[in-house]
Order: sequence, then C-alpha cells, then structure tokens
Amino acid sequence: MDPKSWKESFAMVQRVVLPPDTNVFGNLYGGRLMEWIDNVASISAFKHSRSKVVTGSIDSLYFLTPIKMGDIVTIESKIDYVTRETMEVETTVFTEDHNTAVKRFATRAFLTYVAVDDLGKPVQVPDLKIETEEDRTRWDEGARRSEHRKKQLKEIKQFPPKF
Ligand SMILES: CC(C)(COP(=O)(O)OP(=O)(O)OC[C@H]1O[C@@H](n2cnc3c(N)ncnc32)[C@H](O)[C@@H]1OP(=O)(O)O)[C@@H](O)C(=O)NCCC(=O)NCCS
Repeated sequence: MDPKSWKESFAMVQRVVLPPDTNVFGNLYGGRLMEWIDNVASISAFKHSRSKVVTGSIDSLYFLTPIKMGDIVTIESKIDYVTRETMEVETTVFTEDHNTAVKRFATRAFLTYVAVDDLGKPVQVPDLKIETEEDRTRWDEGARRSEHRKKQLKEIKQFPPKF
C-alpha cells in the first residue's frame, strides 16, 4: 500500500443549527455535535484506508462555548497519525454567528478508527506521508497520544466494571 498524505483524506462539513438540534436552552445539544464530529472524522478514515472502519475511541471532548440555534458550524478533520491498523483523526470545530459573522473555536477532538474487514477483523492501513515540519509535529504528538490510549485500553480491558 502506498503511503498517503493527510490532504488526501481531509474532510470538512458545515451545518446550520436547527431547532431539532438544540437543547432546552436553545443551544446545540452536545450529543448531536458528537454525532457530527464522528461522522466527519469517519470520512477521513474511510478515505485514508478505503476499507470499512469502526470508531475505536474518542478522546476527551471539552465544549468551550455555547453554539446557538442558527449558528453555522464548521467541522474539519484530518489524519495526524496511523498505526498498523488504526488512524487517529483530529477534528476541529468552529461556530459562526450567522448575523455578525463572528467566529469562535468550539472544540477539538481526537478520534481513533480501526480499519476492519467484512468480519470486523482489523486490517492494515496505508502509512501517512510526512511532508512538512508541521506534519512531523502532528505525527509525534499523535504517537504520544496513541501510547497513552494503549495504556488506557489495556487497563479497561484488564479491569472491566462489574455488572
Ligand atoms: C475496534 C475493534 C475492531 C478492535 O478489535 P480487536 O480484535 O480488539 O483488535 P486488536 O486488539 O487486534 O487491535 C487492533 C488495533 O486496534 C487498536 N484498538 C483496538 N481497540 C481499540 C479501541 N477501542 N480504541 C482505539 N484503538 C483500538 C489496537 O491498539 C491495535 O492497534 P495497532 O494497530 O497499534 O496494533 C473491536 O474492538 C470492535 O469492533 N469494537 C467495537 C467498535 C464499534 O462498534 N464502534 C462504534 C460503532 S462504529
């Protein structure tokens, strides 16, 4: 498999916040934003791997500013780091007041997708091309997060909650 640049799997979507997307305060419901983030990020994972993918994990998500009904939400996603069978996708979310055009940074999330075959068994993904210093920095930071995630995954598998 030939390595691919993050540019080949970059994805972006814009949505306007409508009444069914809001909570009782007229702000975008957090669960809805998570769904949008997962959807856009999965496009990057699909484009990079060109195979089926499942969401493995979503790192901590901090909602930094309320997103109001009528706001225009922009979500961008790009691959920062890959392992043999996983892809870490960085998503950034901005919100724009449709009247004033004032833009605010709303949140950022790192999602890990696992590429799988028809039976749900993990399969290999292409390497990520590193073309610039910035790509290298994002790769190195992704590698650190990946190590941390692997430890967390091991712990949660080792000590599952009782039910
Ligand atoms: C994700 C899944 C396919 C992994 O299967 P598995 O047999 O446990 O996979 P493995 O232990 O062989 O791990 C394969 C790779 O995935 C990584 N991985 C496995 N589970 C992961 C998770 N939950 N989050 C992040 N990475 C994960 C492993 O670290 C390994 O990475 P590597 O390429 O660095 O070696 C499986 O646990 C699954 O189907 N989970 C449910 C996914 C789902 O339903 N998501 C929500 C709906 S899309």
